[in-house]
Amino acid sequence: MNYTKLSLDDVLTKLEKELTPKRYQHSLGTAEWSKKLAQLHGLNEDKAYIAGLLHDCAKCYPEEKLRHIVNDILHLDPSEFISSKTLHAPASAYIAEKEYGVEDKEILSSIRWHTIGKKNMTTFEKIIFIADKVETRTRDKDFLGEARELLETKDGLDKAIIISYKETIKSLVERDLKICIDTIEIYNSLEDSINVN
Ligand SMILES: [Fe+2]
Ligand SMILES: [Fe+2]
Repeated sequence: MNYTKLSLDDVLTKLEKELTPKRYQHSLGTAEWSKKLAQLHGLNEDKAYIAGLLHDCAKCYPEEKLRHIVNDILHLDPSEFISSKTLHAPASAYIAEKEYGVEDKEILSSIRWHTIGKKNMTTFEKIIFIADKVETRTRDKDFLGEARELLETKDGLDKAIIISYKETIKSLVERDLKICIDTIEIYNSLEDSINVN
């Protein structure tokens, strides 16, 4: 089944043109990890590959264009964008639909929420979220070894996501940046779910 109106070759050509070389490599890495995790969790691998490939498709747009999409077209709540780094997630979902012809709602929502995540993510959304953080083409932080190891097992998905949230929160604190309320709420709910299991 095709998840885009463009052929895979055309998707790759367009992405390579619109992203920096490093971001393009990161997108390929995220697609590969999304596919691998989908296989482990019995989900559709082609669908996961496309979601991973397109998750940052608007990342290299100028901030002005991202703000236009988020504010004037999507009319999203500004409280979600206390950091401009989060603008590209909803903008990428919008561009994936409009320019790449993605209609699958779960692909679009996994792209929409890949930066801050959300409470009660589906397994598919979790896979794209964590693949973005752990892919091996461009990500090389120390904590990733442990997260990648956890991801080898079926019940390691939430634990790997918690590790990723901890690192995000630590890094925001260290850089004197604000933490989105949603990030704290998602972290707390993941901690609850791990403790129940
Ligand atoms: Fe991103
Ligand atoms: Fe990314």
